[in-house]
Amino acid sequence: MGLRLKYNIVLLLACLLGMVGATTLSYVVVRKSAVEDIHQSIDLIHGNALAVRSYTVDNITPLLSDDNDILFLPESVVSFATRTIFDTFQKQFPEFGYKEAVLDPTNPADRPNAFEAEMIGQFRDDPSLEKVTKVVDTDEGRFLTVAFPITITQQGCLACHSTPEAAPPTMVDLYGPDNGFGWRLGETIGAQVISAPMSVANKRAMETVAVLIAGFAVIFLLVFIMTNLLLSRIVLRPVRLISETARKVSLGDFSVPEYSKPGKDEISSLATSLNLMRRSLERAMSMIDV
Ligand code: HEC
Repeated sequence: MGLRLKYNIVLLLACLLGMVGATTLSYVVVRKSAVEDIHQSIDLIHGNALAVRSYTVDNITPLLSDDNDILFLPESVVSFATRTIFDTFQKQFPEFGYKEAVLDPTNPADRPNAFEAEMIGQFRDDPSLEKVTKVVDTDEGRFLTVAFPITITQQGCLACHSTPEAAPPTMVDLYGPDNGFGWRLGETIGAQVISAPMSVANKRAMETVAVLIAGFAVIFLLVFIMTNLLLSRIVLRPVRLISETARKVSLGDFSVPEYSKPGKDEISSLATSLNLMRRSLERAMSMIDV
């Protein structure tokens, strides 16, 4: 195996090892930061939902509560406002999801699915829990889902959610007497469940890996060409000439010109030493001839 092949195998191995190490590391780091970004988007959606809730409670409910005795206006209800506003938001960002999942909901659309019910169960078992995070695989891909507990902290909520008799009759007419009642003060009745696709994180990490691999390929190519040129010029060509000259001299052919390489590197000193040896040999031979 020639020097060049040996050198190139080592170069290729080093490059491959470096590439695998760097791409794995950057995949992990980029993906982690992308997941943090998704968490941040979810926190923003949550913060916005809370703002809509307090706007509705403070500004809309007082305006419309009297009208509810004549005709129930769901627009005055916090959850209705939050969901309607989120539906509009979702037209621009269809990949995000928001749901106020409640074990016994007024609106059947808010009934939890199996994993939402499980998260609500976790909040009911441990009141100190502030949020629960889950990664959920669906037909549409992998989603990061974060749930925040909904606890009844105000007596006012029970005006509509305690018994059908206590609730505005117009509301019972609209929603029926079977769901969304029997909630108690201090009870965690459900959770705000916000989900965002994980595919963004994977996509960003894969893009970084692709850029890194392309970068490595370019660097490898440059290092390969430059070091091979250098190897040829500085080592391989002079060594080949020196060995050819030495071979001819060893056969008694002193007509070949001396090879000398300017410079102070190892190859130059090898050439000089061989030339000295050749001259000694030539002198010794001529003495024998005499
Ligand atoms: C004026 C009556 C009324 C009051 C007061 C009221 N709600 Fe509701 N609530 C409703 C109605 C009606 C719905 C169903 C709205 C819809 O169509 O999505 C609802 C829905 C909800 C939902 C979504 C799940 C479900 O049941 O469909 C939650 C959570 C909720 N309310 C919590 C509260 C909390 C917490 C309070 C007190 C801060 C409160 N509500 C006060 C009438 C009321």
